[in-house]
Amino acid sequence: MEKMYLLWGVLALLMSAEARPNIIIIMADDMGWGDIGVNWPQTVDTPTIDQLAQQGLRLTDFHAGASVCTPSRAALLTGRLGLRTGVTKNFGADALGGIPSNETTVAEILQAAGYRTAMLGKWHLGTRKGHHPLDKGFQSYLGVPYSLDMGCADPPGANIPACPACPEDNSVYRFVSAPESCYMGTALPLYQDKTVSHQPVELAQLTTMYAEFAKNFIQNASSSAPYFLYAALSHMHVPLAQAEKYSNVTGRGEYADTLREMDGLVESILSAVGDSVNNTLIWFTSDNGPWQVKCGLAGSVGPYLGMWQASDQGGGGGSVAKMTVWEAGHRVPSILYWPGHIQAGRVSGALTSALDIVPTLTALGEGNLPSDRQFDGTDMTPIITGSSETIRNVLYHPNSGVGESGVIGAVRIDNYKVVYYSGGVPDCSGGAGPEQNLTDTPLVFDVGSDDSESSPLDKTSSEYQQIVELATQYLLDLQHNISTDNTSSVDYQSGEQGRVCCDQDSPICRCPWD
Ligand SMILES: *[C@@H]1O[C@H](CO)[C@@H](O)[C@H](O)[C@H]1NC(C)=O
Ligand SMILES: *[C@@H]1O[C@H](CO)[C@@H](O)[C@H](O)[C@H]1NC(C)=O
Ligand SMILES: *[C@@H]1O[C@H](CO)[C@@H](O)[C@H](O)[C@H]1NC(C)=O
Ligand SMILES: *[C@@H]1O[C@H](CO)[C@@H](O)[C@H](O)[C@H]1NC(C)=O
Ligand SMILES: *[C@@H]1O[C@H](CO)[C@@H](O)[C@H](O)[C@H]1NC(C)=O
Ligand SMILES: *[C@@H]1O[C@H](CO)[C@@H](O)[C@H](O)[C@H]1NC(C)=O
Ligand SMILES: *[C@@H]1O[C@H](CO)[C@@H](O)[C@H](O)[C@H]1NC(C)=O
Repeated sequence: MEKMYLLWGVLALLMSAEARPNIIIIMADDMGWGDIGVNWPQTVDTPTIDQLAQQGLRLTDFHAGASVCTPSRAALLTGRLGLRTGVTKNFGADALGGIPSNETTVAEILQAAGYRTAMLGKWHLGTRKGHHPLDKGFQSYLGVPYSLDMGCADPPGANIPACPACPEDNSVYRFVSAPESCYMGTALPLYQDKTVSHQPVELAQLTTMYAEFAKNFIQNASSSAPYFLYAALSHMHVPLAQAEKYSNVTGRGEYADTLREMDGLVESILSAVGDSVNNTLIWFTSDNGPWQVKCGLAGSVGPYLGMWQASDQGGGGGSVAKMTVWEAGHRVPSILYWPGHIQAGRVSGALTSALDIVPTLTALGEGNLPSDRQFDGTDMTPIITGSSETIRNVLYHPNSGVGESGVIGAVRIDNYKVVYYSGGVPDCSGGAGPEQNLTDTPLVFDVGSDDSESSPLDKTSSEYQQIVELATQYLLDLQHNISTDNTSSVDYQSGEQGRVCCDQDSPICRCPWD
């Protein structure tokens, strides 16, 4: 009898260990749908990521929660749209605020469920007290807390236009909060937990440090508790820079070299996981599509050409990717690798979103979603196990860059996409097309058959009218839902107290690199 109990005990233990995988989210920055070989065969620089897809699940209709960094990351970590969290646009380098304390991150949920948690890389949700990764569920952190172009570095890395290295001279210090400016008053910092350990960071060493941190964290994992690692890579955001080993490794330019280095970093993480792969879910994705104004230093949109926007008869040109509601802005790579649990080589066209990450990881980690708020994501476990082909048929894409930030700029209903805003975002030529509010007569595309969004439905057709009416109703429902929900507000002010600074006496906040 006792033996029986023991056997059941051991079995239960094995099963519960099975039920709670280690979880690694790898999130690339500004990486296009076409930047991985399995999505777009012209791309040959991602052998490791391709292998994850060949041995795992590839989602082909997966969308970021917004099409710029900050709101996309907030949506991923909270499972809620910016209209609820208040996080609708990017924070500046010297932001006073950050992700609201009332919003709960997936790291907080998993930590409460017994996970060990760590984060590396780009946070971009605030650095001050209450808003730092260590205040939002991560037990350790290493990273540049925002985009690589939000502070100077020496050497500066590749950007368009080229930015100079950090000034040495006190006279050039300016307090600037515009994130697009080459000259921030603050050199690019590297945090180790809550301490700024290096400033400016050496871009070429960043990848090695990130790989080391991931390896230490993973290998230090005890068998008694599963872990959660959020690896928010600095790749592929400008300025581009690589370790010596990857410099001109492809002979096809900075972008290809940097992509190779990123793939190498994914390989380092995978090899640190080693024999525990079968108990570790690795989920690779990107925060938004390519930043097209960066020309050859921007990634590939794959087939998502946004032809209506690009044409003179339509939107009059400009970007169709990052900052827009066109497919290349928010449709991003998404690969789930978990041998023994996910059937190798599966491809799913289910309509899915980074908003689904919170409910999915909460289910896998046996955590609890806060009960005092609504979520925009859905548990994706049925897609992962293959027990279902769909989890939703409606998805909202917020404006990020044109129109009012956070306002819903497009609605997906099955394969139909209703587009309410266009234009206003520059591409490589510098042209942007006029910013247009199309709300009164939106465009409707069938993105199931028209990847490049070239042929809107005829506005006089009954098909068009039905879809637009349906979308209007969904938007009203969402508005009602949000108006009865607990929502948060965000302080978007910048100020000198928000400046991340190693040495307040140094005009550009330098501290020694050692
Ligand atoms: C390793 O894990 C222990 C206990 O879980 C923790 O105290 C320590 O800080 C960890 N070390 C690293 C390098 O993560
Ligand atoms: C990069 O490598 C190619 C050959 O692979 C070579 O022709 C080219 O000169 C190299 N460029 C630089 C900047 O070293
Ligand atoms: C992981 O699972 C797969 C499929 O069940 C198996 O072939 C492989 O040997 C396992 N790997 C390890 C390291 O246990
Ligand atoms: C809003 O939050 C309060 C406090 O946590 C809670 O009592 C209330 O039920 C929440 N409302 C909704 C709609 O979830
Ligand atoms: C776009 O137009 C609609 C309808 O005319 C209007 O209600 C809405 O406020 C406008 N949106 C913005 C961001 O101005
Ligand atoms: C709000 O939306 C969520 C997610 O779709 C749903 O579960 C909830 O019932 C809705 N609540 C209200 C009050 O409409
Ligand atoms: C946080 O939530 C509480 C109660 O749910 C609410 O009273 C408060 O206004 C919220 N704070 C912010 C900054 O949204």
